[in-house]
Amino acid sequence: MNSLKRVILFGATSAIAEQTARQLVAQGASLYCVGRNRDKLVALIEDLKIRAGDQQHIDGSVADLTDCSQHAQFIDTAEQQLGGIDGVLIAHGTLPDQQACQADSALTRQEIETNALSVINLLTLLANRLEQQQRGVIAVISSVAGDRGRQSNYVYGAAKGMITLFLQGLRNRLAKANVDVVTIKPGFVDTPMTAEFDKGGPLWAKPEQVAKGIIQAMQKGKNEVYLPWFWWSIMLIIKHIPEAIFKRMSL
Ligand SMILES: NC(=O)c1ccc[n+]([C@@H]2O[C@H](COP(=O)([O-])OP(=O)(O)OC[C@H]3O[C@@H](n4cnc5c(N)ncnc54)[C@H](OP(=O)(O)O)[C@@H]3O)[C@@H](O)[C@H]2O)c1
Repeated sequence: MNSLKRVILFGATSAIAEQTARQLVAQGASLYCVGRNRDKLVALIEDLKIRAGDQQHIDGSVADLTDCSQHAQFIDTAEQQLGGIDGVLIAHGTLPDQQACQADSALTRQEIETNALSVINLLTLLANRLEQQQRGVIAVISSVAGDRGRQSNYVYGAAKGMITLFLQGLRNRLAKANVDVVTIKPGFVDTPMTAEFDKGGPLWAKPEQVAKGIIQAMQKGKNEVYLPWFWWSIMLIIKHIPEAIFKRMSL
C-alpha cells in the first residue's frame, strides 16, 4: 500500500479534487493545493484546515497551469512545506466546446494545451523527482473519452487519449523505480464541468464516489481504473466496434 500522508493536488478546486482533498485530510494527510480560482482555493484551504489535525499541514498556490514556467517552483515549494512527496494528483481540465473548436484552430490548440500539454509538463518534472526518491505515486484524471475518438468531443478525447498514452509509457519507465503511475478514467460525473448536461440516469456518479475510487487506486498502486467500475465494460464494447461501422455512428 502506498502512503498518502503528503500529497500535492494540481487543479485542487475541481469538484473531484476537492472531494479527494477532504477524504485525504480525514485520513490524516497533509496537502499542497494548486488551483486557478483564488476565491475557491482560499475557501478550500480554509475548509481543509478546519478539518485537519494539529500535525497536518495544509497550504497551496494560485496558478493558471498552462503557464508551465511555474511548475517546478510549485513542486519545490510543496516538497519543502510537506517535508516530502508521497503522492500527486493532477486533476485540472476543461470540457471544450467541440463545435467552437472545429471553427477555430487556435481554440483547439488552447484546449490541447490545457488538457494535455500542461499535464505532460508537470508529469515530466514529477517523474524525475519521484524516480530519484525511488517511491511514491502519481495519479492523473484522464477520461473514458480518451479511449476512442468520437465526433461529439474528439478535441477533449484526443487530449485525454494523449495523457493516457503518456502515462502508459511513464508507468513502464517508473515501475523500475518503485513509483506507481495511475490513470483515472471517470465516466459521467456530476460537477461544474458537466453543468449543462441532463443528469438523469444510472450512468452519472457523484464526485465523492469518484474521489473514494481515486484514493483507493492510489493507495493500491493500480495502473488504470474506470470510475465507477462499470465504465470498463461499456468502453470495452465501444473500443471493439469495427471502425467501418463506428465512423457512421452518431456518437
Ligand atoms: N465531470 C466529468 O464528467 C468528468 C469525466 C471524466 C473526466 N473528468 C476530468 O476530471 C477532472 C476534474 O474535473 P471536474 O469534473 O471536477 O470539473 P470541474 O469542477 O469543472 O474542475 C475543473 C477544474 O480544472 C481547473 N482548470 C481548468 N483550466 C485550468 C488551468 N489552465 N489552470 C489551472 N486549473 C485549471 C478549473 O479551475 P477554475 O475553477 O479556475 O475554472 C477547475 O477547478 C478534469 O480533468 C476532467 O477532465 C471529468
